[in-house]
Amino acid sequence: MSTPRVIGAEAIEDARRRGRLIVEVMPGDIVTALAKDSAERLGLKLVDGPVDMPAPPRTDGAVSMRRSLYRRSPKWVAPSRQPRKAQRLGKLALIGAGGVGGNVAHLAAMHDIAEDITLIDIAPGMAAATALDLNHTSGITGAAGRCVGGETLNLVAGADVVVVTAGRARSPGMTRADLIDVNARVIRQAGEAIRSEAPNAIVIVVTNPLDEMTVEMLRATGFPRERVLGMAGTLDSSRFRHALARAAGVSPADVDAITLGSHGDEMAPIPSRATIKGRPLDVFLSPDQIDACVKDAITGGGQVVALKKSGSATLAPAHATIEVIDHIRGARSGPVPVSVMLAGEYGIDGVVLGVPAHLGVNGLISVEELRITDGERTALHTAANAIRTRLGL
Ligand code: 2OP
Repeated sequence: MSTPRVIGAEAIEDARRRGRLIVEVMPGDIVTALAKDSAERLGLKLVDGPVDMPAPPRTDGAVSMRRSLYRRSPKWVAPSRQPRKAQRLGKLALIGAGGVGGNVAHLAAMHDIAEDITLIDIAPGMAAATALDLNHTSGITGAAGRCVGGETLNLVAGADVVVVTAGRARSPGMTRADLIDVNARVIRQAGEAIRSEAPNAIVIVVTNPLDEMTVEMLRATGFPRERVLGMAGTLDSSRFRHALARAAGVSPADVDAITLGSHGDEMAPIPSRATIKGRPLDVFLSPDQIDACVKDAITGGGQVVALKKSGSATLAPAHATIEVIDHIRGARSGPVPVSVMLAGEYGIDGVVLGVPAHLGVNGLISVEELRITDGERTALHTAANAIRTRLGL
């Protein structure tokens, strides 16, 4: 138990200087009259502590799935950050061995995710070099997986999971949508190879513009929606959580938040479902701060592009891809935001959009319909309409 403190005006001013919006008052603490005046004047809330709420109920996949199947008070249960014992994949194939593909391979090797990690890239020698470089780490790390690399798409043969990052990345000033035509051709070629060489694979599309390229991949492979997923929600949610944690001055591990919608200008971070230390955002943040965090999540990828001048983010997208793979192989439980072809969920049909979903070894199990505000639902519909327009649907 902590020793009771006297909270004076100085502590309030210090909290204010550190950008805090609340001051936690623990049982036994004495708050001086001057401190109360200062808090009111500076707009800080005195909140009875401890502010840590009991952890929200965590459920296993079966309970979560039952919730979504029976649609009884669906509650967002944040994806567990603690890896569990999980299935090791036989073969993980990566089409595209650039910044994101290379980092996915590295993380997959370090976490022993697959027996065989195959990198494919048309740039001469690039995939083979990365594979060899990764194999050379095994004398230090003891990683058991075998990495191979090459230039031809038939190397996807027999893969359980294929991650597609191939295609052009944005340059400063470009939107993701500017890449539709050039990257659709890449996705079609990759999709045809996957259909013939890895007909049972689950495909994770990372190439931009993400939602549109996931539609192209569905068309090119002819696979059911369960086996063609787009990775964006895990990345955008991580950016949203980072922004919220920075604004509130807490650890990112204290923040649960998701981002749905498109992976573009119509991204839909969901503040109504977000929590900091188990409490709603407005306990810690002002409306302006929340708006700034939403904007930061939406523009996060563009901020990296602007700094790099050439190419886009690689590390966060790679971690976010591994998060999706971990849900597929059972290393994480609960729903996770991924882009999937919707079939009536959220009142949207026939378009790929980021939504919370349960995944398993066969891909999509079910889409979880969260209770969200009317404004957030409208944002999802706006995103769906924008994607339809861009694809001429
Ligand atoms: C991003 O948002 C690459 O689209 C990816 O960084």
